[in-house]
Amino acid sequence: MSDIHILMTVPLPSLVIDALEKKFTLHKLWEADDTDAFIAGVSGDVRAIVTAVPILAEGKHVQVDGDLMGRFPKLELVANLGVGYDNIDANWAAGNGIAITNTPDVLTEETADTAFGLILNAVREFSAAERYLRAGKWLEKPFRLTGSLRDKTLGILGLGRIGTAIARRAEGFGLKIAYHSRHEVKDSPYAYCADPVSLAKRSDIYVIVVPGGPDTNNLVGKDVFEALGPDGYLINIARGTIVDEPALIRALQNCTIAGAGLDVFAKEPEVPPELLAMDNVALLPHVGSASRDTRDAMSRLVVDNVTAWSRNEPLLTPV
Ligand code: GLV
Repeated sequence: MSDIHILMTVPLPSLVIDALEKKFTLHKLWEADDTDAFIAGVSGDVRAIVTAVPILAEGKHVQVDGDLMGRFPKLELVANLGVGYDNIDANWAAGNGIAITNTPDVLTEETADTAFGLILNAVREFSAAERYLRAGKWLEKPFRLTGSLRDKTLGILGLGRIGTAIARRAEGFGLKIAYHSRHEVKDSPYAYCADPVSLAKRSDIYVIVVPGGPDTNNLVGKDVFEALGPDGYLINIARGTIVDEPALIRALQNCTIAGAGLDVFAKEPEVPPELLAMDNVALLPHVGSASRDTRDAMSRLVVDNVTAWSRNEPLLTPV
């Protein structure tokens, strides 16, 4: 048994479990009947926690907050499966000298593909058109005409890695591109807007790609929807918490905006029944990075980060 002890909070993919079990002593929190007693039994040994954003692991979610991290006096690392890390209290970790790693880059293109699938699906209403065909309604009359990407502006809220990959795709579709980020991106060819509402004023399609967490909670609400207007579409592939969901439902019901494409929700996997009932909303079950290839690459990156840490080598993807 390795003398490096690691706590895994939730069942990550077997690729991660198998690789870590070969090299380290792995403690599986989700297998414990009494988690408090389990933690008390290993807390003096554990030097790393391996965890995942809720959608990337089955079972009961474990928030890696200060209360949890504080129970492991030798804790040095929290390695996360997922690019977002709102499941970890990053401020507490930084204040206590604990490093965090996530899984960026390897999922950028997959997630940008998902965003574009949702953009096309929301604006051209392909899912609704398929439902129409399957219901035999085409036999009665053609499907309704839809919105279009022609001559439209895509507003990107968060021009980071994934936002930039979405912008590259948008160029291929002939869309004009504007963005808002906390900082203007130097040398960017895209139009910068000073805040989320002015971006919405300029946009026909508004895609949210900022990280979740306390800084962006309910960042997109009524004022953004009103600025986007009755021909505008909202796309969210980031976190459900960024959108004021009741305000979004009202905006869709009142035709304040034309439609939406959502991969994420405030209380996943629960989706508000109002959204389920709407035909002008494309809904996906948080599948942004959910291809076999990409999920394997993310899993390998978790293992590589933990391995680098165990050898005192630089972390591959610290946050
Ligand atoms: C998924 O939502 C992720 O953060 O990777």
